[in-house]
Amino acid sequence: MGEYEPTIIAFVCNWCTYTAADLAGTSRLAYPSNTRLIRMMCTGMVDPKYVIKAFLEGADAVLISGCHPGDCHYINGNFKARRRVKLLKEILPHFGFDKRRIRLAWIGASEGVDFAKTMREMAAEIKELGPTEVREQMVL
Ligand code: FES
Repeated sequence: MGEYEPTIIAFVCNWCTYTAADLAGTSRLAYPSNTRLIRMMCTGMVDPKYVIKAFLEGADAVLISGCHPGDCHYINGNFKARRRVKLLKEILPHFGFDKRRIRLAWIGASEGVDFAKTMREMAAEIKELGPTEVREQMVL
C-alpha cells in the first residue's frame, strides 16, 4: 500500500479560484494530485450539505475558495460562504470530523501561486491529521 495522500475536495468559484487553479496548472506549479476541483459559479452556492456529503463519502478535507472580499461577482456570495464555513466548523466535530479539515480561502484569478501553496499546505496539515474514520472504513 502506498503512502497516504489525502483527498481534498475544493469547491471553487468560477471567476477567481478556478481560474487560479488553471493558471497554476498552465504554469506547471505543483499541487497535490488528489485535489478534486468542483467548479461553482460562486462560493455562495456551496450548500453546507455538499460539504457534509463530501466528508461522508470519503473526503479528507474540503476547501471552499473564491473571490476576495469586495470582488464577488454576485455581490456577497463569498460572505455567505464565510458564515457557512464558520457554522460548519462548529457542526463538523459532532459528526466526528476535526474542524481543521475545512478551510476557506480567498484566491483571485491571477493568484495561481497562492492556489498551489494553499493546496500543498492543506495537504501537509491533513496528512498529519491522518485519514478520517469514514475514509479508514472505506475499501479503496
Ligand atoms: S463570484 Fe467568486 S465568490 Fe462569488
